Amino acid sequence: MCGIVGYIGTEDTKEILLRGLEKLEYRGYDSAGISVLNEDGVHLFKVKGRIAALRDAVDEKVSSTMGIGHTRWATHGAPSVDNAHPHQSASGRFTLVHNGVIENYTQLRDEYLKDVELKSETDTEVIVQLVEKLYEQQGDVTEAFRTTVSLLHGSYAIALIDEQNAEKIYVAKNKSPLLVGLGDNGFNVVSSDAMAMIQVTDRFVELMDQEVVIVQRDGVQIQKLDGTVVERDSYVAELDASDIEKGTYPHFMLKEIDEQPFVIRKIVQEYKNEHDNIKLDADIRKAMQKTDRVYIIAAGTSYHAGLVGKQLIEKLAKVPVEVHVASEFSYNMPLLSEKPLFIFISQSGETADSRSVLVQIKEMGHPALTITNVPGSTLSREADYTLHLHAGPEIAVASTKAYTAQIAVLAILAVDTAKAKGFDLDFDPLQELAIVASSMESLCDQKEEMEDIARNYLATTRNCFYLGRGVDYFVAQEGALKLKEISYIQAEGFAGGELKHGTIALIEENTPVIALATQESVNYSIRANVQEVVARGANACIISMEGLDQENDTFVVPKVHELLSPLVSVIPLQLIAYYAALHRECDVDKPRNLAKSVTVE
Ligand code: M6R
Repeated sequence: MCGIVGYIGTEDTKEILLRGLEKLEYRGYDSAGISVLNEDGVHLFKVKGRIAALRDAVDEKVSSTMGIGHTRWATHGAPSVDNAHPHQSASGRFTLVHNGVIENYTQLRDEYLKDVELKSETDTEVIVQLVEKLYEQQGDVTEAFRTTVSLLHGSYAIALIDEQNAEKIYVAKNKSPLLVGLGDNGFNVVSSDAMAMIQVTDRFVELMDQEVVIVQRDGVQIQKLDGTVVERDSYVAELDASDIEKGTYPHFMLKEIDEQPFVIRKIVQEYKNEHDNIKLDADIRKAMQKTDRVYIIAAGTSYHAGLVGKQLIEKLAKVPVEVHVASEFSYNMPLLSEKPLFIFISQSGETADSRSVLVQIKEMGHPALTITNVPGSTLSREADYTLHLHAGPEIAVASTKAYTAQIAVLAILAVDTAKAKGFDLDFDPLQELAIVASSMESLCDQKEEMEDIARNYLATTRNCFYLGRGVDYFVAQEGALKLKEISYIQAEGFAGGELKHGTIALIEENTPVIALATQESVNYSIRANVQEVVARGANACIISMEGLDQENDTFVVPKVHELLSPLVSVIPLQLIAYYAALHRECDVDKPRNLAKSVTVE
């Protein structure tokens, strides 16, 4: 949440910062700002709203070769120009951007800044005022910056500039992601993720928690908080600049939905050895064999993928699995088994709620595997093992291709474990996934049908119910999340049998109910549930699977192995949500109040 960029070099910095922020806008987009420094001093531009508005607000005539920028997702203080970053110290000498939450900001304010009049409601302003205060006492900017950082509790990625020194950007991080990018020709950059700066460099240095970095035109120095210098190699980010462009698509979400067949094929290719068998890290295999219970920890869509993963692992590998919402697990940990294995599922690998569980269970000495789309991410670095999703950057806030990639990787993991345990399976996941990929392709070609469903069922409604039984119930929850987050229609996913225990009271004339029927064992009973709501006036849309379909079903998805049905049944739901949001003129890729990467708890 929130995105940070910084540049120090020889080119005019405004455009580099603005372009970087455009790429980071998925992290938060309620306000934005940049500060650039030249011989006339610091020039500050801030707006409430998007980067496009910031672009209009920036004075073209101001030229500078160093500066910092920020796009915000509000935590402390409403979205406004005053609360937008960068923030400045009382004298205006220091200017700072911050991503994260400073937990002790009120204590710091009361202890150090009693005589300073704060101009914003943010926790961030306390940091920059503190730098100035400590500089007045210590007389050295680096020392004041380090001392400030040592006083902060919470999560932060920060970048600071000093009006009196155009040669340095001071950065630091704790729990929030931050990278330094290395340029070849006398420039270096700072960025919340590699995507934002891939246009200018593909070489990055990872920063560790509680490190301070001095970024200059011709070099970068990493220090620990005690001033000890740290040497670290850079790495090349394997990102294709075109992956982060929409191309001819109107929205990233639509592009990412369409990429799903390709992603599934890529996963098959990445997890297959030369004998066409599953290729998986032997240590992960051992960990799965050794455990007596798997604990899946995740949030949002990744949590929904975890629910499907539980079925796969329990049915195929016969290992008991619990799936937990990360934000609840931290504060309400269940009794653990003797040999637990934790699996963290996270597209971004940066979700703070999941990370907080990871820190807790590592302290308890338990092993952890992260399944993520970003192998260098915090959750990946801090877990013992990582499985990569190979889905390519997911930019739209609504997660689509990461969900199907997570299920595909979980299926491979489940089968690998089953085989390692000596179970005879009548299920070849690599072959079945290849069938899934073709089915996905045909579904992606049927967008008009999905658009019709969105128009017929969701054009004017205020709410919508999704029903399913068994694994369809999990997909129903994901379908409801997709719809609510981008179209703002209140939507809930229910277990078909649970309706009559309360929720059916909400069904009125024309209430849309979208039911999934892809499971043979519950085909009869889910249809009975549909009859119950229809009898009470609901406008029912049935999405079934070939072989289980009945006359008058609204849409039939191609037949795939029952265990993998979520991979195909979710696609109509993603597309229906997309078109519902489009018809309602919502901002599909950047829904209100949300951010792609939830890096605060
Ligand atoms: O990056 P993660 O997978 O850890 O993110 C978890 C959730 O924030 C995420 O899935 C969220 O629910 C999506 N916006 C849903 O589309």
